[in-house]
Amino acid sequence: MHRLKLKKLLTSVLTAVSLMCYGQSNNAVEQQIENLLSQMTLQEKIGQMNQLNTAGLTDDMKGQIRSGKVGSILNELDVQTINELQRIAVKESRLKIPLIIARDVIHGFKTIFPIPLGQAASWNPKVVENGARVASLEATASGIRWTFAPMIDVTRDPRWGRIAESCGEDPYLTSVMGEAMIKGFQGDNLNSPSSMAACAKHFAAYGATESGKDYNTTWVPEVQLREVYLPPFEKAAKAGVATFMCSFNDINGVPSSGNRFLNKQILRNEWKYDGMLVSDWGSIEQMIPHGFCTDLKEAAEKAVLAGVDMDMMGYAYINHLEELVHSGKVNEKLLDESVRNILRLKFRLGLFNNPYTKERTQMPYYLAESLQKAKDAAIESVVLLKNNHSVLPLNSSVKSVAVIGPLSDSQADQLGTWCFDAEPEHCITPLMAIRETYGKQVQVIAEKGLTYSRDKSEKGIEKAVAAAQKADVVLLFAGEEAVLSGEARSRADISLPGKQAELVAALKKTGKPLVMVVMAGRPLTIPKETELADAVLYAFHGGTMAGPALADLIFGKAVPSGKLPVTLPRMVGQIPIYYAHKNTGRPASNITLIDDIEVGAKQTSLGFTSYHLDAGDTPLFPFGYGLSYSTFNYSDVKLSSAVISKGETLTVSCNVTNTGNYDASEVVQLYIRDKVGSLIRPVKELKGFEKIFIKANETHTVTFHITLNDLAYWQADMVKRPETGEFAVWIAPDSQSGKEADFKYQ
Ligand code: GLC
Repeated sequence: MHRLKLKKLLTSVLTAVSLMCYGQSNNAVEQQIENLLSQMTLQEKIGQMNQLNTAGLTDDMKGQIRSGKVGSILNELDVQTINELQRIAVKESRLKIPLIIARDVIHGFKTIFPIPLGQAASWNPKVVENGARVASLEATASGIRWTFAPMIDVTRDPRWGRIAESCGEDPYLTSVMGEAMIKGFQGDNLNSPSSMAACAKHFAAYGATESGKDYNTTWVPEVQLREVYLPPFEKAAKAGVATFMCSFNDINGVPSSGNRFLNKQILRNEWKYDGMLVSDWGSIEQMIPHGFCTDLKEAAEKAVLAGVDMDMMGYAYINHLEELVHSGKVNEKLLDESVRNILRLKFRLGLFNNPYTKERTQMPYYLAESLQKAKDAAIESVVLLKNNHSVLPLNSSVKSVAVIGPLSDSQADQLGTWCFDAEPEHCITPLMAIRETYGKQVQVIAEKGLTYSRDKSEKGIEKAVAAAQKADVVLLFAGEEAVLSGEARSRADISLPGKQAELVAALKKTGKPLVMVVMAGRPLTIPKETELADAVLYAFHGGTMAGPALADLIFGKAVPSGKLPVTLPRMVGQIPIYYAHKNTGRPASNITLIDDIEVGAKQTSLGFTSYHLDAGDTPLFPFGYGLSYSTFNYSDVKLSSAVISKGETLTVSCNVTNTGNYDASEVVQLYIRDKVGSLIRPVKELKGFEKIFIKANETHTVTFHITLNDLAYWQADMVKRPETGEFAVWIAPDSQSGKEADFKYQ
């Protein structure tokens, strides 16, 4: 037998043997990849780089798989169909390479958790990891082994519909939450059949989209890119996220799908990332309308040169890479790199030795423990913004409640955006939960007032007012329908839609205690409504168990512990408004608001500092803000030293006392400020947090450790380093409070 054939036979036998074991060593996997790659034709390599939306078991799809033209399929949900597609791939294609099946499992598959922005409001990575783990258990049972989550785009623009999928405005909080989701999705072993490959998306700076309009252009100086938008992605890469996804937007004129600086220099050279980079849906092809490419062939060329490994539904690679290689425009070695990344993902997922999904008669959906985790997450994602006269929690003196509002009983809307596979009929709404759990304790009078959030008809308001007049307390569930946030769902006016403002005002006139619960996919501008309400709970879209969670919070079985992951502006005109802003040369002072300006006031009579005449310079509620039914006192801030030098760590501690009557959790936050820098530094930066449960009247000492890496920042020469000088530090309940302590780095 020819020596080469003998070698190949021997290699194949060795590969077959080693493939039988899970958790192969990296070297073994790399060896298997090289063996496979050496056998692949150019067409088969290109086939692996091609991702198609499902077409079921059509002859065309089966034929493409059989001829090795498909590397991945997204959005197929039927297990038997998936197994048949896999069977064709691993039995009938020449090299028997399995497919990877993908889906957007963003905040749950069947059991839906709060939208990621709500989960971020929990400031509890464990709750977030639990949610991703439940999602993975449910989705993998359906044959999904790759989810396009977490979405870790930092954003400071609530007009942007995709803020709903994000973890808010802060790089540190987003990094922590993104890592937790990756851990939940990927589990302890990526090759376990109940694990899914996670996907850090959208790489990068998608949240900087101009005017908050989706898919819009971004202009991000490199320093800001590295300081604000990249950290969660670097954290995800270091956390072992299996894949990345390009963003649709251009950054400073270069679309991410063709951005070598982003995808080669940063992702591969600086971060040494060895996972797989997939385009977004058609984002390679969209470089044509971007005006970055003349045609699909040029788009394919620019994308593969920029290191995009897989083309999601762009048909660019499958139609043009072969010609580009034959013409010499693209070196086949580039394709080899991408195919290695794709094969590595499939090996890591264990798909070569376990391509099929177990076909079950009973799917692990809506398990009791999953629903409990979803309820726990929903409880922790609610932020108490106002609670005048402790109207909440309702006590035994309350004998009747009026449950009102377009979100009071809308199973579909409380799920929020990006939950394709949810079944609204499994959702428990606030009205359902209040009736079911507290219907014996109180009389429940239900009148929606408005039939949906955008309802412009006021005819239902009269009935709602009548219901309110019969009740001791009014519980208003206001906000946004699910369809008003998410992809391509940006709003230029982020006030309560429809006639909700009128509904709030009418209910206020009844003089009854008014509790407003906001269920939305973004921060809304609700200054007037907040002023009129006696209590405000910001609940985002809380998912399947939003109702039971809110009922328990309202009736005191649970205590609110959420904190805002994003600033709530007073007015849309303040945007962007965020806590980690710069101080400017004229920070706001002696503010005179527009209605307080004397008629005939002289131009020079109002002072000259940085604020809006009609809004001032503060938000409605700041980042990190959230109340409890209890109260907490922060005292005895102590620093291990007033000076920190190279190689040293500064320990900062503080006593937090629960001075109220409820055992409760508090999110203790650590902020710093570098007072003077060669580049101006933000007035505050979140550098740590800890969510702690403290019994009433007990005190906990919370300790943080600050290292020089916490003080370092990206400087004009694109080197991240600390600078000596004065620093301030806060241990606080939110980004605007707390006593400042000072230290020096020298
Ligand atoms: C969408 C989204 C992306 C999603 C992908 C697949 O357009 O931008 O987040 O994962 O397509 O559905």
